[in-house]
Amino acid sequence: FFASVEMAPGDPILGLTETYLADQRPGKINLGVGIYIDDQGRIPLLPTVREVELALVATGKPRGYLPIDGLAAYNRLTQQLLFGAESSLLAAGRVATAQTIGGSAALRVAADLLKQVAGAGAKIAISNPSWGNHHVVFRTAGFELLDYRYYDASSHGLDFAGMLEDLGRLEPGTVVLLHACCHNPTGVDLDASQWQQVIALLQERRLLPFVDMAYQGFDKGIEQDATAVRLLEASGTEAFVVANSYSKSFSLYGERVGALSMVGADRDEAARLLSKIKQTIRANYSSPSTHGASLVAGVLGSAELRTRWEHELGEMRSRIHAMRAGLVDKLAALGAPDFGFINRQAGMFSYSGLSKAQVHRLRDEYAIYALDSGRICVAALNRSNLDTVAAAVTAVSR
Ligand code: LMR
Repeated sequence: FFASVEMAPGDPILGLTETYLADQRPGKINLGVGIYIDDQGRIPLLPTVREVELALVATGKPRGYLPIDGLAAYNRLTQQLLFGAESSLLAAGRVATAQTIGGSAALRVAADLLKQVAGAGAKIAISNPSWGNHHVVFRTAGFELLDYRYYDASSHGLDFAGMLEDLGRLEPGTVVLLHACCHNPTGVDLDASQWQQVIALLQERRLLPFVDMAYQGFDKGIEQDATAVRLLEASGTEAFVVANSYSKSFSLYGERVGALSMVGADRDEAARLLSKIKQTIRANYSSPSTHGASLVAGVLGSAELRTRWEHELGEMRSRIHAMRAGLVDKLAALGAPDFGFINRQAGMFSYSGLSKAQVHRLRDEYAIYALDSGRICVAALNRSNLDTVAAAVTAVSR
């Protein structure tokens, strides 16, 4: 039966973690995968999450199935976080939201549904570069993949003119994937006025905005990091999609907590969208799991815990900023080429500009793991590994 099955290539991110875990060298450092590590070198279990978890365990709740679209309180609280408590879209019932298995399932469920709507001609434009799994998910769902210019290697910044030019050439109906904040892998984001220009262009060309929001709160804060969504609402855009993840903001990676929100023209359209989202989920994995969503809903549903969680999130954010600055300073002190641009990038990642050969030297000679693209997870730096990383990066950049 399976004799003709070929070996699939390893995943560039999660496959690298497998190699890292098998590495026997002491002191190895994983800057490959996007996971926030605290100053003690651990993935934090946020105190607010722990508190809700302990209360849940104490009640000994039975584990029946969730509805196909997940926990109702979780969906409502997610909508408020993404669109704002005062959102007119929410008041008008125009948003269909379903809990999904991480942000990845939100992408895949939306991709399957959008492919049904668009048929054979389904096309999506993705920033160049982007998170590698964006391509995999949409290609597997049957989309034709296009890309638009985004990153300018010479300035380590945004190629905004190139981006507008490429978006302006897309056929009406094309889906445009946008990173809400903390662009993965580059850490290069749009400012509010650039978002306004992009949104106006998408409206004019009748392109469908698809916002991937995996890092809300990791750059400036909950409200500010949702600027793209708020501006889409303010622009009167008739339809758009938001996929979001709590992996990072709640440090709940393995619990797989995310959501898909689709905005329709009116309440009736949103109801039809929700029915299709549920049909797609049922055909893929039936319904989502209980635990992670209960933790998130428990925190967001309590005013006191929510305030404390925003503080915990703020601490993670500040530590990332400090690690960026620390890395830049140490590299400068060691006489490395200028890495000052790392301070201008946002979120967990830095597109370091290191070549594939330099990344391989880091891995082979120093047991430091980064992606072949040069992406490093600055959120995995801490006071114990910063000197080692700075010395190794300096050595391979000479
Ligand atoms: C990453 O980009 O490293 C994370 O989003 C983890 C993943 O699933 O790739």
